[in-house]
This record gives sequence, C-alpha cells and structure tokens, in this order.
Amino acid sequence: MSTASELPSLRLDATREEVLERAATIVARAWQSFDRARPGQPEVDERLHRLLRDALPERGSSALAALDDAAQLLDESIAQPRPRFFAFVGSSGLEIGVLGDLLASCFDVNLAVWAGAASEVEDQAVRWVSEFVGYPAAAGAFTSGGTISNVTALATARERALPGSRRAGLHGTRAALYCSREAHYSVVRSAELLGIGSEQVRSLELDESRRLRPEAVAEAIDADHAAGVTPVAVVATAGTTLTGAVDPVGALADVCASRGVWLHVDGAYGVAAASTAPAGHLFAGLDRADSVTLDAHKWLFLPKACGVVLVRRHEDLHGALAHEEDYIPHERPDHHMVDITLEYSRPFRALKLWLAFRAHGADAIRAAIERNLGQARLLYDEVARHEELEHLCGEPQLSIVPFRHVPVGMPAAALDEHNARLVGALQRQGDVWVAPARVDGTVCLRPCVVNYRTTDDDVRALVEAVLDVGRTVS
Ligand SMILES: Cc1ncc(COP(=O)(O)O)c(C=O)c1O
Repeated sequence: MSTASELPSLRLDATREEVLERAATIVARAWQSFDRARPGQPEVDERLHRLLRDALPERGSSALAALDDAAQLLDESIAQPRPRFFAFVGSSGLEIGVLGDLLASCFDVNLAVWAGAASEVEDQAVRWVSEFVGYPAAAGAFTSGGTISNVTALATARERALPGSRRAGLHGTRAALYCSREAHYSVVRSAELLGIGSEQVRSLELDESRRLRPEAVAEAIDADHAAGVTPVAVVATAGTTLTGAVDPVGALADVCASRGVWLHVDGAYGVAAASTAPAGHLFAGLDRADSVTLDAHKWLFLPKACGVVLVRRHEDLHGALAHEEDYIPHERPDHHMVDITLEYSRPFRALKLWLAFRAHGADAIRAAIERNLGQARLLYDEVARHEELEHLCGEPQLSIVPFRHVPVGMPAAALDEHNARLVGALQRQGDVWVAPARVDGTVCLRPCVVNYRTTDDDVRALVEAVLDVGRTVS
C-alpha cells in the first residue's frame, strides 16, 4: 500500500477529471466566442489588475480558481483567432492544432534526438507540407517560426558559399546577402548573427509590383564578385510582410543558377498559397530553391509556434549544423535532429500540423486559403468603391490590402496623422483590429486576411468601421 509520502509531489487540490473538465469548458467557450465577432475588446478589470501586482505566492491555492483567472485574462487579451483580427500576419488557433499542442506538451517528447514514433511523425509532416506547396524537400525541421527558419537556412547557405566558415569564422572575408528592400527584418538579423553584417545585406529596389528585380540582383552579385565579396544567398520573399508581394522566384532561380548562388525563399507568410489555383502561378520556380521557410502558424491556420524550414539537400543542413558532443552521442544518425536544427530541446510542433492534415485534409485547408484570397479581393473592391478610401498598392497579390482614409477636403499634410489616429481609435473601440504601417513613407492601415474564421461580412465590417470612425476621429 502506498503511503502519502510515496505519492508524487506537486499534486493539485482538485482531481484530474475536475481540472480537465474545467479546461475543456474554458476552451469550448473560447471557440464559441471566436465563431463570430464580438463588440469591442474588454479592458482588463480591476480585480485582475490587482491580482497581477501580487507577490510570489509561497502557498498554492485553488487550481480551478487559477484556471478561471487565466481564462479571464486570456479573454481580456488580444486573441488573434478572432475573425476581425486583421493586424500583422495573424494566426488562427485552428482547433485541432490547439488539441495537438495540449497532447504534445502532455507527453512532452523532445525532438532534439530520436523520440520514437514522434520523430517519424515529424518526418511525415515535413513531407506533407513540402508536397502541399510543391517543393521537393530532402530534409526539413519544425522551428519556432520564420525568423529561426531564415537564420537556419542562411547559416546553411553561408557554409555552402564559404566552406569551413562555421568553424574558422569569416576572418575578414566579405560576404553578402541579396533581397528586396521589403524583405522581413529577420534577413538583416541573420546577417548580423552570422557575421555577414547588416551592411552587407543588399536591400534592392523594387519593381512596380513591389517585387525584387532579377536584373538588379544579377548586377549586385556581379559587382560584388568583381569587388571580391562572396555572395552567400539571394532571399526571395514569397509574400512580403508589408504588401504581400511575391518575388519572381523562377527568374531569381535563373540568376542564382548561372552564378552558383544559394536561393532561399522566405515564404513564412505566403508560400502556403502556392498550393492554390488562383495564386499558385505566382510561385513558379519554387521547386528550384535551395531552401524554403514556411510558417504553419500563419497561413496554415495553426496556433503559434509552428515554423518549418525545408532544404533541397540534407547534407547542406547537416554540414552547417552538425555537432559531436559527449552528452548527445549519435545513436541514430538518421534522426539526430540537433544535427540539422539551431535548437537543442525542441517541442513536438509537427504534431499539430500532422493532425490538421489528418483531420481536415489538404483540400479543405487549400479551400480556406482560397477563401482568404477572395476576401482580400473583396476588401480591395470595397476600398475602391468609396471615394474617402484610397489604396496604396495595386491589386493584392496575396491577402494584404494597404489603404488609408482620405476625408474630403483634408490637406495632404494632415493625412498621416489622421490615419495614425484612426488606427488608435479603432483599437480603442476594438470591434476590428488593425495595425498601422507605412508604405513609401505614407501611414496607412495594413489589413491582412489569413484567418479561416473570417467571413465576407467581417471584411465589410472592417470597411464600415474605418469609414465610421474615420469620420469622427480628430
Ligand atoms: C515574410 C516573413 N518572414 C519572416 C517572418 C518572421 O516570422 P516569425 O514571426 O514566425 O519569426 C515573418 C513574420 O511576419 C514574415 O512575414
């Protein structure tokens, strides 16, 4: 018979069934509240404000009460799965993915090295996502997101361009990266971390569709070659964060192939749309890239964090990242994931994507992306219909539609201030959630539609809210 002292420590004051039931009720309520837009964003109430100033509790208290407080705090937070969240590149908290996170953290497997069946699931999820976007990946890994995927891919490119540099350092060797001036800042961050230097990032001018110009890339690479600078990689953005522009991957692949330069496609936001009929053509040539970044927590609707980095040749990742350490012997070289990842301890992020493909099928996920593409087009048309609204870019390539409010008679010099105030007022009202951005220095709203819960009515409500609040804001 076990005595109380033999029971595991850290037991809760309620039964497992009770806490699970409470958690399930909280989740079910949240999902119900995400089904439709709610009026306004609630403030954090006074009781919770006081609670958040409490000192470290020495003694435990009711687990059920703590769960209830957590639920209220989350309800009073800005949750991206709500259908009228249009800011940044949001995530949607796909329900099967939430359950995947729960299960993954319950079993808490570590994908640093061989983790049994979980390692096979990660392999299969890598294969499935590659197939979904049409990229012939030989290897890949789940990461915490686009930033780490980009650093991983560019570390790999650096070792390819400058063999041995991971060990010897750059030793004064000048190296460079090439991308559009609207590439995500993680490219610059990668250059800083990898010793290439942010000043060696050639942030090149855009064409009229805000895409990288292949001729400009070719010229920049040739000029660097002539000056003794080693080109490390061209980064094509397949869906820029600011406007959703998709760089011409095929033409950039030609430039890279003729010059022996690595082509990385940062598709963190956009590459999921390569799977769709309306947008697939924009990604032609993707299969020629050396590496690809995709965030399943963006347009595959999963909860954060679920990034994927894919490479064409396993040995490239391995050559750049493999380590021999006494505390992680190579028991199974084929599944020694620390050899191809930046992270050591790595949670089982693949499970939620695997579950999403199992439960919904690729077809339904593709259809949800296509619906968002259609909604971006609807938003573009709605903006065009109102003379008080003005687009800042042409028709959306993917699902971002930057626009601003232009009240009749307002002097041009006052418009930036007006639109910044408008975003502030919209956020205080909280019915729709948008963030401000600047396109060519002009302040605007930059809605992005990447949520499977968003309806056409939600898109129309965004336009109505901008017009209503825009007319009254001062
Ligand atoms: C094109 C692009 N690359 C990289 C990132 C960074 O992704 P994460 O926030 O997952 O690190 C983003 C984020 O929006 C992005 O849009």
